[in-house]
Amino acid sequence: MPEETLTIRDNRTGTEVEIPISDGTIHATDLRQLGLMSYDPAFLNTASTRSGITYIDGDAGILRYRGYPIEQLAEHASFLETAWLLFEGELPTREQLEAWEEEVRHHTYVHTNVTQFLDGFRHDAHPMGMLLGAVAALSTFYPDAKEIGDVESRRLQRVRLIAKFPTIAAWVFRHSRGLPYVFPRNDLDYIGNFVNMTFEIGGQHEPNPVLQRALEILLVLHADHEQNASTNAVRGVGSTQVDPFSAVSAGIAALYGPLHGGANEAVLRMLDEIGSVERVPEFIESVKAGHGRLMGFGHRVYKSYDPRAKLIKRVADDVFAQTGLNPKLEIALELERIALEDDYFVSRKLYPNVDFYSGLIYQAMGYPTDYFTVLFALGRLPGWLAQWEEMLSDPEQKIARPRQVYTGADERDFVPLANR
Ligand code: ACO
Repeated sequence: MPEETLTIRDNRTGTEVEIPISDGTIHATDLRQLGLMSYDPAFLNTASTRSGITYIDGDAGILRYRGYPIEQLAEHASFLETAWLLFEGELPTREQLEAWEEEVRHHTYVHTNVTQFLDGFRHDAHPMGMLLGAVAALSTFYPDAKEIGDVESRRLQRVRLIAKFPTIAAWVFRHSRGLPYVFPRNDLDYIGNFVNMTFEIGGQHEPNPVLQRALEILLVLHADHEQNASTNAVRGVGSTQVDPFSAVSAGIAALYGPLHGGANEAVLRMLDEIGSVERVPEFIESVKAGHGRLMGFGHRVYKSYDPRAKLIKRVADDVFAQTGLNPKLEIALELERIALEDDYFVSRKLYPNVDFYSGLIYQAMGYPTDYFTVLFALGRLPGWLAQWEEMLSDPEQKIARPRQVYTGADERDFVPLANR
């Protein structure tokens, strides 16, 4: 028995058991000695894995990828460098980074049949619906992706996903606008290529390096966030040993929800609904009275200011210096000012999260509201893939299959239709 243990006494029977504590946790399966399960809907206090990828201290507002503070990565790292760090655990050397960029560049093309089924979507199809359908469909183009026990095959699918995702995301954007698809260009970097595929018109697009770097920082800030809802979906679905395209599309579906990645879109709709700074106090009162939530506020893990939201506010200054002020910023700043002084929000430790300001920036960059979550998905992709890889290499993991507390009817006899 290790030094750190927990003694549990079952007061129903007087039975006592001593169970080990490791890393501040007990194993729920140790409770079986007492015939007990642990009950934790929504995983409020359950670690589903050991992970060496991302560290969050929600009370202190700390976020690190592989030990590196998010502030330093946002300042110095490119998105592909961050993705490498998440996958490999170390920052790449110059040679490794160049080879990685080159490899990604050579996988950006997507089978042209993909354009045909994108064409099948209605003109007003939600971009996230199109994205999740198209990414799931990629599994049919790469049947070798089923070889999830083969390390080299897993690496190749990772490259394919990282490389093709911007192409599909850009085509989803073009489809929404009724614009012809623009194909990847090998002379552009990852961000430049994505921006060009979205915004090029008539063979022309004048890149704005400040906006491109701002977009890159936003993607870096979104790249991983340990066991968030969409990552949990990727791990859960991936634990069935399905191919990574299908597992990632489950992550996209989870991200689509308004309580997760859909929140940045919901923030913009909320700011539109409020309409003016004068109406902010009235809106805050309605939230406190239980009529809806202040979108972009609150977080399951952060009980202080989300460190990403702090960095995003700085990015917003750079972007608005280029594009002119987004008039909704004033409303957002006033919401934040009042909420941070109001006891309802203070006592519940509700602070702005990453989504509160990101939508304003995306809008200023020219992306429509219903496209914001696609940008979030593009950013989160390396995290999903790093966590998928970690899950598959973890000998403690099995198919994710929770237990339940049954609360339904006892056994009863079938009643024929005529007697009901
Ligand atoms: N506005 C108003 N009240 C809120 C908000 C909010 N945004 N968030 C939480 N609360 C209140 C709840 O009503 C609850 O109050 P109560 O104790 O009086 O019942 C209390 O704060 C705790 O809230 P929970 O829902 O229990 O917290 P949980 O950890 O389950 O939810 C979540 C976290 C989903 C992020 C929540 O804060 C929320 O819905 N926020 C708005 C949506 C949003 O911005 N999501 C983006 C999250 S970040 C991301 O995905 C990148």
